[in-house]
Amino acid sequence: MKRRFIAFAALTVLAVGALAGSGCVGAGAKAPAEIKIGVIAPLTGNIASFGQSTKNGLDLLVKDVNSKGGILGKQVRLIYEDDRNDPVETANATRKLITQDKVVAIIGSVTSKCTLAGAPIAQSSGVPMLSPTSTNENVTKVGDFISRACFIDPFQGTVMAKFATETLKAKTAGVIFDIGNDYSKGLAEAFKLAFEQLGGQVVAWETYAEGDQVFSAQLTRVRSKQPDVLFQPDYYHAVTLISKQARQAGITATFLGGDGWDAPETAAIGGAAVEGAFFANHYSPDSTDPVAVAFISAYKAAYGSVPDALAALAYDAGLVMFDAIKRAGSTDGKAIKDAVIATRNLRAVSGAINMNASRDPVKGAAIIKLVGGKQVFAGTVNP
Ligand code: PHE
Repeated sequence: MKRRFIAFAALTVLAVGALAGSGCVGAGAKAPAEIKIGVIAPLTGNIASFGQSTKNGLDLLVKDVNSKGGILGKQVRLIYEDDRNDPVETANATRKLITQDKVVAIIGSVTSKCTLAGAPIAQSSGVPMLSPTSTNENVTKVGDFISRACFIDPFQGTVMAKFATETLKAKTAGVIFDIGNDYSKGLAEAFKLAFEQLGGQVVAWETYAEGDQVFSAQLTRVRSKQPDVLFQPDYYHAVTLISKQARQAGITATFLGGDGWDAPETAAIGGAAVEGAFFANHYSPDSTDPVAVAFISAYKAAYGSVPDALAALAYDAGLVMFDAIKRAGSTDGKAIKDAVIATRNLRAVSGAINMNASRDPVKGAAIIKLVGGKQVFAGTVNP
């Protein structure tokens, strides 16, 4: 009888352990030997490519880290939440990860408008939040628990303005952007400021709203000004529509974009309209840096495709976070946050990561050209 009871008790413990492992058991369960990290990304919706790449990059890293014994002797478990690129969903996901799953930190979200919605919750809860890819300047201004693994839009806008004036010898530019999207608007403004400082003239400044499908009124005005370049700081779902309609409207300008162009869909959907376009990006798959080369070959072996910047930065965000937890020697939120801030010269796929005082890494941008439907490396610009 006694033996049976012990066996039953052991089974119960195992079952509870398994449940705790799947996140179904609340307080009272024995803490499992794992470190829970929340990840928020648009796994579905109009920019699902960004979310899928993010997940691929992080899964690859965690598999590697766990196979080598994990962090602080514990296995890392990622808990994914899909925000569908909707800020309301990001806020809900942030709350759920903190209160229900009790994650020690959050990696996410991907787009700036979403991260801006989750960040105040993470900040007030004392849970470190690190966005792989949110480039809007205001993201890390939310507070000291918020950081990122990417450069910021004032830099990215300047890079493209310099490229337009110095390399393309552009004198005039048109800009068309989503007025309700922090990323799109911030990057448009950064480009305009830099382009004008460099002596260029912004001859068309056009806006639209998320979900718009027809841009004829704006594009008619752009065409009448005949700018040398047309800057389109938005994600692939919008810029493919705009680029096609712009060509149909007879606009011959060279198209320029930012990191939001980095998806296989840009060339696949944009086709001839985006041929010859240039955009700023966080890394190039043609990189010869050993960290990048190793990552690219592991990614290809795992997924059968070349990683984009989303995958690279997700991997880098994981590297920053895990390195910080190791150096902190603890999963305490404040200790992790302090360690993230102290990140110096961390070798990552997108280059060495050095956090500045505002928790923004300072690093270079790659310029990519679309040629024959493929991304071709067209240069690097350092800060
Ligand atoms: N920088 C974009 C934003 O802040 C997100 C993004 C990064 C998209 C990299 C594509 C590639 O919203």
